[in-house]
Amino acid sequence: MKKVLLAIVLFLPLVYLSLELFIFQDVTDPIKYIYTITGATATVILFITITLSLITKWINLIKYRRMIGLFGFLYALLHFLNFYILDAELDFAFVIKETLDKPFIYLGMIAFFILIFMAITSTKRLFKKYKNYHKLIYFALGLITIHFIMAQKSLTILQIIYVLLILVIGYCKLLQQIINKNKI
Ligand code: HEM
Repeated sequence: MKKVLLAIVLFLPLVYLSLELFIFQDVTDPIKYIYTITGATATVILFITITLSLITKWINLIKYRRMIGLFGFLYALLHFLNFYILDAELDFAFVIKETLDKPFIYLGMIAFFILIFMAITSTKRLFKKYKNYHKLIYFALGLITIHFIMAQKSLTILQIIYVLLILVIGYCKLLQQIINKNKI
């Protein structure tokens, strides 16, 4: 039941996006709008997944981490499909050219490939084997941060708050690892 509720919450951005695009139809630039909603949602969800281990004292959602992470991947996949299907109109040569020409695109691509690897190896059996590689999420999130700041072409207050938040989360995670190591 809790999983169903969580899934409903995680589907809300997609429902909102679909309503705006197909029912209200008041979006002037749908492709840009899809980039924004899918990209921002994926980023926020992925940050939530790395924050879960920090808040277990107050609320323990670790058993939902895989599910939440996979939703993050789903939104990243929709973001990529927006690029490939709507923006590039399925022109693979254009995708390659854009990826090589624009640094912010190849940073996004590298992050996306890391997410694909993590989604594939998130099953119980494969996770045991590739657990250590899942630390790549921090690298991916670093790339994603540079990617979206470059995509927006300017540094806004919201982005500065976001970067500060990442630094605080990163610091807390590091501290947590040091404390855990010293306990052993
Ligand atoms: C698969 C490779 C990727 C491609 C080709 C790509 C492409 C793009 C493009 C073209 C934009 C600019 C949209 C615009 O303002 O016109 C953008 C923005 C953005 N992307 Fe990506 N991206 C990729 C991966 C990712 C990933 C993995 C994430 C997060 C998990 C992400 C998060 C964002 C965010 C948050 C923005 C800013 C949206 C805004 O302008 O408000 N991207 N991306």
